[in-house]
Amino acid sequence: MRILFIGDVVGAPGREMIDEYVPKLKKKYSPTLTIINGENAAAGRGITEKIYRRFLEVGAQAVTLGNHAWDNKDLFSFIDDAKYLVRPGNFPEGAPGKGMIFVNCNGTEVAIINLQGRTFLPPLECPFKQADAYIEEARKRTNVIFIDFHAEATSEKQALGWYVDGRVTAVVGTHTHVPTADKRILPNGTAYITDVGMTGPYDGILGMSRDAVLKKFLTGLPVRFEVTEGRRQLSAVYIDVDPATGKARKVEQILINDDQSIFD
Ligand SMILES: [Fe+2]
Ligand SMILES: [Fe+2]
Repeated sequence: MRILFIGDVVGAPGREMIDEYVPKLKKKYSPTLTIINGENAAAGRGITEKIYRRFLEVGAQAVTLGNHAWDNKDLFSFIDDAKYLVRPGNFPEGAPGKGMIFVNCNGTEVAIINLQGRTFLPPLECPFKQADAYIEEARKRTNVIFIDFHAEATSEKQALGWYVDGRVTAVVGTHTHVPTADKRILPNGTAYITDVGMTGPYDGILGMSRDAVLKKFLTGLPVRFEVTEGRRQLSAVYIDVDPATGKARKVEQILINDDQSIFD
């Protein structure tokens, strides 16, 4: 079984990358399961039903979210019916949507979990304890368990990776929009990377206009950020999995940008 995961899609440039490269990536890697993080897909803030459906059309079987999940109010109108949408599971009880979903991939069930860190982010329920609860539930149905851990601090992400090593197939970090060079398989078989990186504008600051972000740093005043234009990047990981045990066999980082295509 092969899992392709694409990091935070930012605005229209990110969505263009998805339309352009997901078919090529599917051809090259033949993933059994494709997952996209869409927390910034609608103009950098949240996701709409139209975008969610587009991601499924282009070939994703699941869409994960993060701290920007709720920024586009359209979400509230479709989240309860969106079977393949996962939002951070450690929001207080009563939040709409689901933090874990199951997807059937050629007869193998896969649990897909989204969690959000609490360091330098709003104080949610404990992601570690929520991971325990989800893993216990998922294990009744499958050994293949995928976690998108949406968090700021590298230490919190590494900590979760080690905490669940051997109990899940993969922990991939999202949210910082900057890919890290530490992908590996932990000793008990969990594929791990601290941050996959983002998909969208390459020459902005985390995908946003440089002028606006610089103004904020230079003045300390509140500034509205807009998705920038120009060159683009796509950041992803590819994980090869033993479907029987749920252990990862191989993890590969995929980085594409408008300067260098892996398809040339
Ligand atoms: Fe993001
Ligand atoms: Fe985020």
